[in-house]
Order: sequence, then structure tokens, then C-alpha cells
Amino acid sequence: MIKKHLNTKEFLWIALIFWSASFTAIEAPFSFVFKTSIQPWQLVIDGIISLLFIADLIYHLRETRNKIKTGQQKHKKKSFFSLMLIVDILACIPFDLLSYYLGHQDLFIAFRLMRMIRIIKVYELIENITIVPGLFKIQSIVVGFLMVVNWIACGWIYIYPMGSDTDVTTYYIRSFYWALTTLTTIGYGDITPHDNTGRIFTCFIMIIGVGMYGIVIGNISRMLASADRHKEQSRERINDLLMFMKHYRIPEKLQTAAINHYSHLFSKRLSDDDEKIIADLPHALQQEMHIYMKIKLISNIPVFFGCSHDCLKDISTHLEQVYSSPGDMIIKIGDIGEEMFVLSHGIVDVIMENGERMATLHDGQIFGEFALLQETTRTANIISQTYCDLYKLTQKSFNEIIKKYPILRQNIENTTQRRSSDKSQSGSSKGKS
Ligand code: CMP
Repeated sequence: MIKKHLNTKEFLWIALIFWSASFTAIEAPFSFVFKTSIQPWQLVIDGIISLLFIADLIYHLRETRNKIKTGQQKHKKKSFFSLMLIVDILACIPFDLLSYYLGHQDLFIAFRLMRMIRIIKVYELIENITIVPGLFKIQSIVVGFLMVVNWIACGWIYIYPMGSDTDVTTYYIRSFYWALTTLTTIGYGDITPHDNTGRIFTCFIMIIGVGMYGIVIGNISRMLASADRHKEQSRERINDLLMFMKHYRIPEKLQTAAINHYSHLFSKRLSDDDEKIIADLPHALQQEMHIYMKIKLISNIPVFFGCSHDCLKDISTHLEQVYSSPGDMIIKIGDIGEEMFVLSHGIVDVIMENGERMATLHDGQIFGEFALLQETTRTANIISQTYCDLYKLTQKSFNEIIKKYPILRQNIENTTQRRSSDKSQSGSSKGKS
């Protein structure tokens, strides 16, 4: 089955439905076996959960209708579809509120158990999401396990109802303890069934206990193993890099920079080669990805602050990636300016005609804007100090974009003004000295 990718809002919605369904799945059987009278707080929660389920039902019905319309989904088998629909509709009815006002509490509590079926659908949904945050996965396993223990404890209470010699809390804890020890196959034997119904029920729990335990332990160890595998891979890569750098006697400073870069990538769980990750996607999709990768890069650059998403997308479409090595002259003084550069990664020096270093530019700065804006020749040499990742924007695209987005023009003009005043200040201080 094709897994579904959710955005943050959709995921938060599922988490909300998960917690609502889990609450009902834990509370409904409890109220059912203890026949507790409905408290005001239960009415409020019942109303809220009903509203959430109604909203969810409407959302899914609309989604299914749209999918059928656009041909993404075929009509489901009618009988199954309508059965699940009936369960979903029943789950929306606020049975606590109804029984509070209409009486017949027993009947309505039995109907409330219907809501428990909803939790199965939520788990099915979570299984079909591409990326589930680790913490949510762990809590869904733990809650699921506790839910099952609670159901078994309630089953036990149903078979052996509470006597008058104890209270609800003590009896529930005792039943929960029995359920947990039986399910985990520990079975101390201090609480035992004393009739055939109880014994058959216990046999059934022992059988499902083996599978259940296996599923929970299997899931958790798979998660831990995958986290560990990632750590191990990162450690291996860093060790290889260290050995490589030692072999070639790479200077200490460069070694630290390389290790820091790797650690940063691994901490974010990114690949050191973004291209590899998207290489198998269709060309058009790759192009789109590249645009968004560039948007992410330039949106953090001060000169693009305040630019709309459309503006950033427009610029990204026109940016072309280029590289330079240490010592390369990227811009030569006196040349005609044909492009502007965005320094994505690396260091370049701005050298004046007299050989003086005017400035050093780092990640996220631009250069080569002056000649394009003023329509003059280049005012300084730009020389790479390190390996640099650059993006260039041709004069034609530059002119089109700054014409279309005045805020960008303003930002670039401000940068140019600041740089010109730096230059004149440095010139005048030289003159004085
Ligand atoms: P341009 O004149 O097109 O080419 C050389 C570039 O060096 C210039 O645009 C600016 O981008 C950059 N530059 C010039 N002076 C400074 C400065 N004082 N600080 C930073 N960058 C500068």
C-alpha cells in the first residue's frame, strides 16, 4: 500500500483524534464494567470528543469523495464501506450526554463501546503515514499496550464483578495487575480464575499475550536498532574522514571545519550528498526540489529578508550553482559585470586595485551586485580563500527580478551603500595616516 505523507497540521489532527479515541477506548470499558454514574466532567469531554469525531468524519468523507472524483481511489466494496461508515457515525453520537438526559444508562454505555472500534482505524492510519516522529510512535505503542491491558482487566472485572468488600480503585488495580502479569506471561499465580469462564478467558489472554508481547518488544527494539544504526554509520563516516585527513596531513583548522560540517549533517539526519537522495525522482520533481532547496538557502540571507515567497521562488528559478577553488579569481576588477553571486558556503576576499584586502565575505553574503546595479565595471577583485559553493544570477535575470520586486532592489542598494561607505572610510583613514 502507498504510504501517505502528512503535513504538520494533518499530523497534529491525527494526534488529537488518536488521544480522543484512546481516552474513550480506556474510559468506556471502565465505565461499562463498574457501571459508574456519569460525572459532569465526563459530559464535557464526551461533547468535545463527539465534535472532534464529527469533524473528522466530515473531513474523511470529503477526502474520499474528492479522491473518487479525481480517480485516485476506486469505489470501495459497498457493504464494507457502509459498515465502517455506520461505526464512524455511531462513534460521533455523544452517548453520555444522551443517557444523562434520557436515562437508560446501561444501553447507552454499551453503545459507547462502539467508539473503541475507532481506535483500530486510527492505528491503521498511523501505520500508513510515511514519517511518524519517534516520540509519537513510542507513545502510540505504550498507549496501545496499556489500552489492551485495560480491556483485559475490564474483561476480568466483567467475569468477576466487584464485591462489596472492596472499592473501585483497589479492585481495578488488582484486575490490571492480573491482566499485566498474565499478558506478559509472568503469572505469579496469586490471583487465579476459579470457574470455567474465568479459566477459558485466562487461556485466551495467555495465547494473545505471547503475540502481543512479541509485537511490542519487536517494535521497540526495531526503533532502538534503527537509531543505533544511524549513530553507528555517522561514527564510521567520521572515523574514515579523520583517517583520511591524518594521512594527507590536513591542517588542524580544516580538519575541525570538516568534522563540524559532518556532525551538523548527521545531527540533522541529512545526507552529505543531497543530490543522491533525490537522484531517483523524475526530472521535473527534481527541478522543483532544487528550487525549494535554493529557497531555503536564500531565505536565510539578510539581503533577501522581507522578500515574498513568490520573489524567493522567482530568484531560485534563475540561480545557477557554480563552484570555485582556493585562489580562483571569481571577479576581476575592471571587467564588465555579467552576474551577481550568492555565497552559499565558503570564504572569499574582496581585494582592491592596490592589493589591499577590503573585506572578507562568508556564507550567506552576496557580491558582484555593484556593477550590475550601477551599470559600471567591477570595482574590486573577488578571490576564493576556500572551496566555495556559489549561486550566480545573470544580469538579465537580476534586472528582471529587481524591477519586479522593489523591496529586493532596496535591500541590495542598502548593501551597496554600506559597502561604498566602508570603502570611502577606509580610503579617508589611509589618506589621514
Ligand atoms: P562589483 O563591483 O560588481 O564586483 C566586485 C564586488 O566586490 C562588488 O560588486 C561588491 O559586491 C564587492 N565589494 C566591493 N566593496 C566591498 C566592500 N567594502 N565590502 C564587501 N564587498 C565589497
